[in-house]
This record gives sequence, C-alpha cells and structure tokens, in this order.
Amino acid sequence: MKTIVAMTVLVSTLLFAGDINTTLMKQGEAIFQQTCIGCHGADGKGVEQGGFNVQPRNLSKTILSEEQIFHVAKKGAFYWGAVVTGMPAWEYVYDDASLHAVAHYIYHTFGKKSSDEAKAYEYDSSSLSEKVIKRGKKIYSRTCAYCHGKQGHGQGVATYNPEQSIFPYDLTKIILDEKQIFLFAKHGGEHWGSQSDDMPAWGVKYDDETLMGIAKYIEDHLKVKR
Ligand code: HEC
Ligand code: HEC
Repeated sequence: MKTIVAMTVLVSTLLFAGDINTTLMKQGEAIFQQTCIGCHGADGKGVEQGGFNVQPRNLSKTILSEEQIFHVAKKGAFYWGAVVTGMPAWEYVYDDASLHAVAHYIYHTFGKKSSDEAKAYEYDSSSLSEKVIKRGKKIYSRTCAYCHGKQGHGQGVATYNPEQSIFPYDLTKIILDEKQIFLFAKHGGEHWGSQSDDMPAWGVKYDDETLMGIAKYIEDHLKVKR
C-alpha cells in the first residue's frame, strides 16, 4: 500500500512537472482526435454545436492548469459548477492515465500560454483589511448575485428570463482557486475561452483590491472545499 501511495505521488510529480513527455503527447493526441476534436476543434478553439446552450470552451484561452484540465475532463463541467452538461464526464470512457495524457496534450498544444499567464500572476490577499473584505461581500450580493445567486448556486434573477438564455456557474462547486476567481472576474469569460460575453470583465468597473475582496468572499464563504 505504502509503495502504491509513493508511486502515485511520484507519477503525479512527474506528470505535473511541466516538461513535455512525448509518449503522453502521442497518447493524448490520439484521444483528443478521437473524442474531443468534434467539439473543441483541431486548433482547440471550439466548434459551434447546434442545440447547445453553452458552447465548447476555447482551450487556447484556458485559465486552468494541466492538473485542473485533467479534473474537468474526468468529472465533466457540471461537477465543477457548470449549470448545463454539455461537457461530459470522461471517467466512464477513459482511465486516469489516459485522461492525464489528454490533459498533457491540451496544456502543451493549446493552453500553456493563457494557463501560465494566470499561474505567474502574483496574488496575495493575506493583508486585505476587514473593510475591503466586507465590501467584497456587499458587492457580491449587489452585483454578482444577480447572475450567480445570493448563495452562489448560479440561479440569480438574471436566469429567470423566459428565454433561459444565461448560464452562470454555480460558484460553490468551481475548481478555480482564489487567484483564478480574481483573474476570471477581472478579465471576464471571453478572455478565458468562453464563447459568450455574458460574464463581464469586472476589471473595467472595480480596482484590483475590490476584486480581491470579492474573490476572497467567494473562496472563503461560498465555495465548498472538495
Ligand atoms: C459534446 C461536446 C464536447 C466534447 C466531445 C468534449 N467537450 Fe470539453 N467542453 C464542452 C463544453 C460545452 C464545455 C464548456 C462547459 C461549460 O462551461 O458549461 C467544455 C469545456 C471543457 C474544458 C474546460 C475548459 C476551461 O477553460 O474551463 C475542458 C478542460 C474540456 N472541455 C476538455 C475536454 C476533453 C479532454 C475532451 C475529450 C476527452 C472534451 N472536452 C470533449 C464540450 C465538449
Ligand atoms: C450578467 C451575469 C453575470 C454577472 C453579473 C456575473 N457573472 Fe460570473 N459568470 C457568468 C457566466 C454566464 C459565467 C459562465 C462562464 C462564461 O460564460 O463566461 C460566469 C462565470 C464566472 C466564474 C468562473 C467559474 C468557472 O469555474 O469557470 C467566476 C469566478 C465568476 N463568474 C465570478 C463572478 C463575480 C466575482 C461576479 C461579480 C463581480 C460575477 N461573476 C458576476 C455570468 C455573470
């Protein structure tokens, strides 16, 4: 058992060390070609799907790390807070090793630039004042809750429209960490690969400190740790 744990740790460390592994790239490319290309496209930018409420993400703009790409591929987007199920859970089709390979391929072929941009961003909310944190909560309730809902479940009043045309994420279930929440909110959905502009770039309206207060509120009070 100990050896298995040690090996798993070793394998994970190797997988996420950042270097290109040509065996994994080949294996991942084959899976991508077979399964993902129909929705995400040969260039990763997404192929429009008729009848889909939420279009496939542009993987060349992803905010996700290689490890997070693995987790979204494994469990599907719904598990991680999407309110529709357009992105299936591939764990029923592929084992973890195969999904690690496809995540490796996606990260190195399409996502590296945007993913690394997010990762390199220096973020530290540890010295935010109580006042800023309180303001974060207030602005969340006043602004974000309109779409994401008071408790973050993605069912704000904006979703009550009869056309059902807006699909905000359930923020209690998201995979993003606090820094990524901040960056997603600051630059908006399109910047990070969403095909719709429903999630605005809040950096136009709020300064970084204010957005950090909101991100911290979501991270500490809405998101359920799993
Ligand atoms: C039937 C269409 C479809 C197929 C096939 C598909 N996806 Fe997706 N994918 C989507 C949709 C739609 C989204 C956006 C989900 C949302 O936000 O609600 C998405 C989102 C994603 C994301 C999240 C990206 C981000 O930046 O948040 C990843 C990662 C992903 N897909 C990986 C894969 C992989 C790997 C495969 C193949 C094993 C695959 N997808 C196959 C439709 C598809
Ligand atoms: C007008 C509706 C609307 C408002 C208001 C809104 N959002 Fe969003 N948000 C969305 C939609 C729709 C998505 C789904 C992704 C997309 O389409 O870009 C989203 C996605 C997100 C995500 C990404 C979740 C993930 O895992 O990919 C975060 C974080 C987020 N919003 C934070 C906020 C914050 C913080 C505020 C307030 C400052 C806010 N949102 C206000 C519509 C909205």
